[in-house]
Amino acid sequence: MTERFYVTTPIYYVNGAPHIGHAYTSVAADVLARWHRLAGRQVFFLTGTDEHGQKVEKAAHDAGLPPQAFVDQVAAQFQAMSALMGLSNDDFIRTTEPRHKLACQALWRRLMQSGDIYLGHYEGWYAVRDEAFYDEAELVTRPDGSRAAPTGAPVEWVREPSYFFRMSAWGDRLLALYEQVPDFVQPSSRRNEVMSFVRSGLNDLSISRTSFTWGIPVPDDPGHVMYVWLDALTNYLSAVGYPDETSARWPFWPPDVQLVGKDIIRFHAVIWPALLMAAGLPVPRTVFSNGWWTADGEKMSKSLGNAIDVVKLVETYGLDPVRYFLLREVPFGNDGDYSDAALVRRMNVELANDLGNLAQRTLSQVAKNCAGVIPPSGAVTPEDAALLAGAGALADKIGGHLARVAFGDALEEAWRVIRAANAYIDHQAPWALRKTDPGRMATVLGVLAEVIRAVATVLQPFMPGSMSRMLDQLGVPAEARSLSALATPLPAGTPLPSPQGVFPRFVEAA
Ligand code: MSP
Repeated sequence: MTERFYVTTPIYYVNGAPHIGHAYTSVAADVLARWHRLAGRQVFFLTGTDEHGQKVEKAAHDAGLPPQAFVDQVAAQFQAMSALMGLSNDDFIRTTEPRHKLACQALWRRLMQSGDIYLGHYEGWYAVRDEAFYDEAELVTRPDGSRAAPTGAPVEWVREPSYFFRMSAWGDRLLALYEQVPDFVQPSSRRNEVMSFVRSGLNDLSISRTSFTWGIPVPDDPGHVMYVWLDALTNYLSAVGYPDETSARWPFWPPDVQLVGKDIIRFHAVIWPALLMAAGLPVPRTVFSNGWWTADGEKMSKSLGNAIDVVKLVETYGLDPVRYFLLREVPFGNDGDYSDAALVRRMNVELANDLGNLAQRTLSQVAKNCAGVIPPSGAVTPEDAALLAGAGALADKIGGHLARVAFGDALEEAWRVIRAANAYIDHQAPWALRKTDPGRMATVLGVLAEVIRAVATVLQPFMPGSMSRMLDQLGVPAEARSLSALATPLPAGTPLPSPQGVFPRFVEAA
């Protein structure tokens, strides 16, 4: 039976246009999805939009549109972003869809039956910007004397009837989960943060609101709409057919990796598993939290107007350099700073020079000096064998890094081989062998072609378009681009198309 792999991104609030922060998690999830497909697994990759709640309702109001018309418009922008970033998502869930409403109401009923929901009264602080409740003790005082959430978001005092989820009953079971499954929350700094939060004691969670209507009605009590986070988290279930456990996608449950930003780790690592355990459902295997991007050292925000526009980025640099940069520049889990200069440096040094030139030098010599076909190999020297062994080990090594969601390490692994191949070509100097030892030249160029094939194959998930062009130039047919195909060497004599540079240097317009 084929192994399954289920990966998710957060669903994005449709209160504003997509930016680099959204594209980041999405590209990361896409790389995992593509990698596991390449390894022969059956993959379900989910992304989508979070369309209910007060924050979105307010954005619609500010835009002068009825909420549904507004969310339709912004959701379309997020769908366009998915296409722009080359995402291979298998579904795009919108929380205003009927299938999602059905799942939320089914989950609610289930939690009612298990005694985990009760009706009460909420009185306390709420931050619409964060769509989160805060305790008095968590608030900070701003210079003007007003109170704010620890995130800086304005808070308001809310007093209304509300249903509650009995979170307080789940603390010990959550702590047991973190102990038994140490990889449940990653990276470990986040795990510590989550554990100490749970150890400090959990309050019951208000899970319905009565003061506005833009949400999913609570079953049998339509004066209440569900708290937007209960609604949002359920998306991961709706997309696999919940509550219909006979649906074709249900076997994907539970998710293998859920990628979430560091600001929403508590929702995913505390509330979410508690809800699932209460509903008698298996919890995700890993919730991995990524860091935040700043722009030239500053926090990105709408008010500063410095949010990095991914459309412009892709137009300027091309999609694959942007995808590469996002996952290469900072270790996944850490915060990172975006600057054009850093992107251009990586693009010119690592893509154009290291990888692009290696392929171009090799393939142009094959075209000129080997009649444009994959050359036959002669006796293999220890240097050849060492380089080939490095390339042959790549798939396993990268698989190991990606199992830890360590994109930077995975890329570094490929670059070690690329740098070794560059040293090899300089040292072997096949251009000089053309006259003195054409047989040896053929072997050297054949080794290089094989190494580039391995590199291009394992990098497909990161840079699908460019690597597919590189594999085209190596004459690798579409059906021979999976990880398992690497076991069979490129057949000598394969005719190659004329080589074309895959990674142009970026030159600043004068
Ligand atoms: N709708 C909720 C998630 C619900 S999931 C059941 C939400 N949406 S969001 O649009 O505000 O944020 C979505 C993701 O984008 C979060 O993971 C957040 O961390 C991420 N980012 C938003 N700005 C970011 C940066 N500047 N840098 C990196 N990621 C950032 O939260």
